[in-house]
Amino acid sequence: MCETCGGHGPSADRSPETTTGGNRIVVVGKGGVGKSTISALLARALARRGLSVLAVDADEQRNLAATLGVDAAVAASLVPLAEDAGYIEEKTGARPGEGAGGMLRLNPDTSDLVDRLSVPAPDGVRLVVMGGVRRAGGGCLCPETALVASAVGGMHLHAEDFVVMDTHAGVEHFGRALARGFDTAVVVVEPSFNAVQVGVESAGLARDLGISRLLLVVNRASSYHDVERVLGHIDHLGGFDFESATILPVDQSVIDGEPSVDVALRGSPILDALGGLVAAVMEHAPAMSGPVA
Ligand SMILES: Nc1ncnc2c1ncn2[C@@H]1O[C@H](COP(=O)(O)OP(=O)(O)O)[C@@H](O)[C@H]1O
Ligand SMILES: [Mg+2]
Repeated sequence: MCETCGGHGPSADRSPETTTGGNRIVVVGKGGVGKSTISALLARALARRGLSVLAVDADEQRNLAATLGVDAAVAASLVPLAEDAGYIEEKTGARPGEGAGGMLRLNPDTSDLVDRLSVPAPDGVRLVVMGGVRRAGGGCLCPETALVASAVGGMHLHAEDFVVMDTHAGVEHFGRALARGFDTAVVVVEPSFNAVQVGVESAGLARDLGISRLLLVVNRASSYHDVERVLGHIDHLGGFDFESATILPVDQSVIDGEPSVDVALRGSPILDALGGLVAAVMEHAPAMSGPVA
């Protein structure tokens, strides 16, 4: 059952949760907390370590290309998955925007996704943009969301391959299709109760989908007092057992370089602090050599 529109016949509930190798990371949290910034920094920092990285923009606002520092002409040539009606129909059996009632193939062979739809980003990262807009009232994004989650989750990856998926806020609209292949959620919060509340909710939903590694990032922390406030809010919300916590400062190079993280990647406090998150996500990947950020 589609959790967005309530339709679509055979659901992602029946998709086999196969092991497809690699490391798939979904980045969640309230709007504005720094998800795209951290997704872009993480993707490029992993690529600089010699790892193969696919960045996936699953936010319909589509700002990951600019945040990654993708060349403007290349970004203009991007075909978002949601607008590639032919690809969606070929793979899912449904036209984009079809409402309830269609039968979706949720485990299509999407091994050609990167070749057909990705563009190059700096440091050797590849980018796929999901695109699409939330439709007010009728219709839903089921074919697109189901396809992107299923496609990204079902691709066979090598142990040293990483997928970093930036989202609008959380995992709810992906439903159980996301559980296939995704093993790590990076939960981004900033020092405000509302951001922590959304983060804890998103973490709970991700855990309920079977995503086992939940890594907390406290962004825009300007003092240890900010970190204590976040921990206090988490306690107040009933507590949550995150596997690791990474504290990132407010960073002038992010503000100066905005929208691209290029300036921050030349050397900055946020890049230094990101090392903890990079180490946490690489914990299960094989040791790699290569230039370090
Ligand atoms: N640690 C930081 N220091 C300074 N500015 C930041 C930091 N993290 C994010 N920003 C800025 O905050 C704004 C929102 O960040 P963004 O990554 O777009 O958030 P989200 O994707 O969660 O909506 C952007 O302008 C970004 O450059
Ligand atoms: Mg964003």
